[in-house]
Amino acid sequence: MKVAIAGTGYVGLVTGVCIAHMGYHDVVCTDINKDRIEKLNNKISPIYEKDLDEFLEREVDRGSITFTTDEKKAYEDSDVIFIAVGTPERTDGSANLEYIKKVAKSIAKYSKSGCLVVIKSTVPVGTNDEIEKYINSKSEKIFEVASNPEFLAQGTAIDDTINARRIVLGVESEDAKNKLEEIYKGFNSPIIVTNRRSAEMIKYASNDFLALKISYMSDIANLCEIVGADIEEVALGMSYDDRIGAKFLRAGIGYGGSCFPKDTKALHWLSNSNGYELKTIKAAIEINEAQKLKLVREADKDIDSFEGMKVCVLGLTYKPGTDDLREAPSIVNIKYLIERNAEIHVYDPVGMNNMKKIFSDKIIYDDDIEDALRGSEACFVMTEWKEIRDLTPEIFLENMRVPRVYDGRNCYDVDEMLDKGIKYYSIGRTR
Ligand code: UGA
Repeated sequence: MKVAIAGTGYVGLVTGVCIAHMGYHDVVCTDINKDRIEKLNNKISPIYEKDLDEFLEREVDRGSITFTTDEKKAYEDSDVIFIAVGTPERTDGSANLEYIKKVAKSIAKYSKSGCLVVIKSTVPVGTNDEIEKYINSKSEKIFEVASNPEFLAQGTAIDDTINARRIVLGVESEDAKNKLEEIYKGFNSPIIVTNRRSAEMIKYASNDFLALKISYMSDIANLCEIVGADIEEVALGMSYDDRIGAKFLRAGIGYGGSCFPKDTKALHWLSNSNGYELKTIKAAIEINEAQKLKLVREADKDIDSFEGMKVCVLGLTYKPGTDDLREAPSIVNIKYLIERNAEIHVYDPVGMNNMKKIFSDKIIYDDDIEDALRGSEACFVMTEWKEIRDLTPEIFLENMRVPRVYDGRNCYDVDEMLDKGIKYYSIGRTR
């Protein structure tokens, strides 16, 4: 089949490359961003993602994937079109469907009748129904819409797609189900077939459950600090119960990224607008917002004034393995420190260029961790990159003027840090 993909962000690009990789279908990806398409045609990935460069190069060379800004060319003879464009958050927390509608309009204009339109973007329950009506109102042709939410995480996106834990197909007809099963030929993953609304809800419920799990651990970690328990030991003890599971029990300075913050707010908004309050998700959002500032609040107890003080921030991205800074806890913390006139030195192995776009010359970007630490009086650890986790107490002692480390990702051994004379704070841990 010929498969078109609208949007070459994380979801669209990885989906396209992985479908092409299976070797059953020809894939064409389209995007309005000319630079992006030019890069992709030159086999350069516009995003930092493990294994993606290699997959991209191989599939472009094999001719199984192409990239174009020409929507007509992409859509006109496609059998299946995936929509994988952004659904950014509006100020009230609801999802903005403007980009999906733009693509739907072009599909109505250029595609052949009977082509299956598949929404991969995360969309509120009922959107697939709405887009099907919308697209069919724009032309004489007939289109069916199916929901196929994406569960990949950044940093493991290729593996999460090739070896997906599940593929969810939200369909309203046998024809749509058959076409999508054909698309996923070669993927060795369980396929769950539901109606469209359930598929849409599976995506939000899954992401929000994971966010809730993290916020729950933040909450318990904060209580651990008060009552003298240790969150790592507590998490380990919980993890042996397979009803709880061992994953997503890491307490820290909260979740960030382009998904959990947006999807929790979107589901909360959706439930409110339907006259129901999702109290669990409201709590998850509030806990996470507060957790993001945990380190600086703790530092405030030790430091009277940050005015002119050299401080160091290690790790900027919302998690390791990505250059993405969206909703990264580092951003609110750096803003907090800027407002207090600290001299802020930052280090991140891949996120610095993106950070420059946010803070330009308001902060200092050091390519070397020790340069960032040198002469500082407080160090804030925001992301657990390996080179940051590998730092020894000696590195802090040798470089910092006052060795105070506020660790939001629990990277170091508490006893070792304290015994070596470092003022060390981490999340939910006791000596
Ligand atoms: C998340 C989901 O994990 C994917 O399944 C989903 O497809 C994706 O959103 C999406 O909707 O597109 P992602 O945001 O890339 O993926 O990253 P995660 O690995 O889930 O991490 C999200 C945040 O949670 C990070 O800031 C991470 O540091 C934090 N986290 C994660 C914790 O604080 N503790 C944990 O135990 C796990």
